[in-house]
Amino acid sequence: MSTNRLIAGNWKMNGLAADLAEAKALAEALAGEAATTRVALCPPATLIAQMNWQLRDSTVEIGGQDCSDKASGAYTGDISAAMLKDAGANLVILGHSERRAGHGETDADVAARVEAALAAGLEPIICVGETLAEREAGRAVEVVSSQVMASLPESLSGRAFAVAYEPVWAIGTGLTPTLEQIEEVHAAVRAAMVARLSEGGRTAPILYGGSVKPNNAAEILAVLEVGGALVGGASLKATDFLGIIRAA
Ligand code: PGA
Repeated sequence: MSTNRLIAGNWKMNGLAADLAEAKALAEALAGEAATTRVALCPPATLIAQMNWQLRDSTVEIGGQDCSDKASGAYTGDISAAMLKDAGANLVILGHSERRAGHGETDADVAARVEAALAAGLEPIICVGETLAEREAGRAVEVVSSQVMASLPESLSGRAFAVAYEPVWAIGTGLTPTLEQIEEVHAAVRAAMVARLSEGGRTAPILYGGSVKPNNAAEILAVLEVGGALVGGASLKATDFLGIIRAA
């Protein structure tokens, strides 16, 4: 098992202070277990500092869900990478399809955010994935490879990061690609990472995301080049998330 395997939970726009009880339950359940997999929670930015305090004795890491490409200034409502780091995050999800589709983020925008994250000492989790129309047109590999090439700046070489392959049509739908389809795209993602970053693209984990649940995690995580998972809905409850972590 590779040591850089990562299971990250993306709470999206879910979670109030009371829901930190789930993070506490997760940390308590994992306490004392041999950590063969890195585990992270990415709550809304409003909860990062409180979660950081709550998880202070835990190996569970914390990530943001997006960051600005700017360091500071007159950008009302935006959050910088340094602010996430200051609040207690060490990771940040970038280029999630809900940001790309809902906020018009382009590959170039994502690459600029990756640069900002690296500058602040955050480890980026860079998301790519095809839409259903692209999959049905037989373009999944082409689309995802092109997103990897354009969303990963050269400065990632030698830095800690992850790529997450999340087919848009599998997110929050209960649908998942076949294991063969996951293997095919992950191989293409790896090839694009190496084409982009040479040796620097060989070791970073490629996470799979999109309707990962306790009952499908083991078979997905066993696929060649699947180096972990990015989990949405099933990360909100400690019991579900633990089921996925323990399948790794
Ligand atoms: P899901 O979301 O697990 O709820 O499908 C995954 C994601 O968007 O990261």
